Amino acid sequence: MTNPDDKLNLDEIKARIRVVCICKGIKMGKICDAIQKGCDTVEKVNKACGSGNGGCGATRCRPVIAELIARGGKPLTGQQAAQHNEDDSEDDDDFFWKP
Ligand code: FES
Repeated sequence: MTNPDDKLNLDEIKARIRVVCICKGIKMGKICDAIQKGCDTVEKVNKACGSGNGGCGATRCRPVIAELIARGGKPLTGQQAAQHNEDDSEDDDDFFWKP
């Protein structure tokens, strides 16, 4: 969970508002907060956040959530997100994962 006294830089803000679960519109910040509160499996994160039960059957969001768990709930920022997604050209207006 982000401490309200901590100031986020622009990359962190962009990462937190990036939609990870496109089907349900769940943003990375909500997922990272759940992980930092103790959700240590994709299933626990999905239950806490409402992600993973959309039309795609979690094929799009599951890998990203698993990576966020591996990172201890630290959001993927611009360059890291681009590495995770070849089609992501770091376009600041694109807050969606492209599977
Ligand atoms: S993107 Fe999460 S269920 Fe489809």
